[in-house]
Amino acid sequence: MTASTGSRTGDYADAVPLWQQLQAVAQALADVRAGASATTALEAVPSALRPGVQALLFHVLRWLGQAEALRRKLAPRNPPPVADALLCTALALGWREADAPYEMFTLVDQAVEAAKRTPATRPQSAFINACLRRFLREREALVEATAREPMAQWNHPRWWIDRLRQDHPRHWQEILRTNATQAPMTLRVNERQTTVSDYLARLAAQGIDALALGGQAVMLWQARPVQDVPGFADGVVSVQDAGAQLAAPLLLGELTPPQGRPLRLLDACAAPGGKTAHLLELAEAEVTALDIDPKRCERIHQNLERLQLQARVVAADARDLDQWWPVNGQRELFDGILLDAPCTASGIVRRHPDVRWLRRESDIGQLAVIQAALLSLLWPLVRPGGRLLYCTCSVFKAEGEQQIQTFLAHNTDAVLRPSPGHLIPRTARKGDAVRDNGHRDFDGFFYALLEKRAD
Ligand SMILES: C[S@@+](CC[C@H](N)C(=O)[O-])C[C@H]1O[C@@H](n2cnc3c(N)ncnc32)[C@H](O)[C@@H]1O
Repeated sequence: MTASTGSRTGDYADAVPLWQQLQAVAQALADVRAGASATTALEAVPSALRPGVQALLFHVLRWLGQAEALRRKLAPRNPPPVADALLCTALALGWREADAPYEMFTLVDQAVEAAKRTPATRPQSAFINACLRRFLREREALVEATAREPMAQWNHPRWWIDRLRQDHPRHWQEILRTNATQAPMTLRVNERQTTVSDYLARLAAQGIDALALGGQAVMLWQARPVQDVPGFADGVVSVQDAGAQLAAPLLLGELTPPQGRPLRLLDACAAPGGKTAHLLELAEAEVTALDIDPKRCERIHQNLERLQLQARVVAADARDLDQWWPVNGQRELFDGILLDAPCTASGIVRRHPDVRWLRRESDIGQLAVIQAALLSLLWPLVRPGGRLLYCTCSVFKAEGEQQIQTFLAHNTDAVLRPSPGHLIPRTARKGDAVRDNGHRDFDGFFYALLEKRAD
């Protein structure tokens, strides 16, 4: 079959034959299962195919637990990896009629076509055909038979579900349900250039439906390529989740520089520079932006250039003080430090559906050790009366609440100021009541604002 196959939702690419997209999705899924991130796996996909393949791959990753459970019922012995990935791709895309991008019979037909046309799966094409046609015949019974398996029900690894139940006994189901949703495109309005209300008016004039989420955050009800976002190229807006946009105003809060000089700030884990730029948009400040990854430091430069902002950007390990401190020849203390520490990213699963399948439970402990080291090494660099904002985009308490409890127990010169703590991810739906703080769509984050006693 060479003709394209119309998708039911219109969100998926129609210009390329579906079998070819399924082939690419299955290969990317096999790569993710072998440890590659979805971003890396998608780099191998020709650019014309990539947006459609990414949309399908993300859908598959959101429902992979259910698809794997169905595959085990259909074929108790593991097929070779690419054949297994193709079977799981078709099942993940089609099992839930409510939001399946294509009819199941179309998916079956095209998955078998993909199997026949791929040398690695050609020998299994009859087997794939038999499995999927059985699914078409016995769909209801098979879904019913797998429904009570936790991984099928919640589409996360078992250890992740258990950890969430333990950490958030009241909210674990809400978190898992939210993780199955698609995050919107959220923008940060650059208040050096315009206001939220003026920007909303600009969007409305172009027929773009948007919602103010509080602070500088504006959410688009329909995502669009970044180059089509009004004002993006000119630095009027940036793309940043509303939860991430809490960092800069929290740190800046009541922070004032002594003796009328600009604020001296450190963004210790800064790349790609979203929070660095937000700090600079909101305050007159001298900012040192560090990141251990030189390639990611390039992204900081690019973002600052687009926004016409300036910071001292250094590629360095924040723990190795001799590498990047003193600043300007002097070991001056900072008024404020933002420590957006490396973490499991368990709070941003809506945007990165591969994360849950890539992490291992042991990653939590290993990252917590790095977070604790960064905290204890950077704390002495805060001036008395200054502040350090610790944050992670994780919902696991070992990377948030427990980390800060341990820190406070060992650092009697630190005071915890009013802070959001663990933010549970939420996805806005049209018609939801606006919550008190105005924010109703954000990724999962943890925030703790620490102040150093002045005496
Ligand atoms: C959560 S991301 C930061 C996101 C960034 N703050 C923003 O808002 O755009 C964490 C960053 O920490 C960096 N990182 C990890 N270990 C580090 C270390 N020891 N020193 C400095 N940066 C580090 C990673 O390269 C990564 O870019």
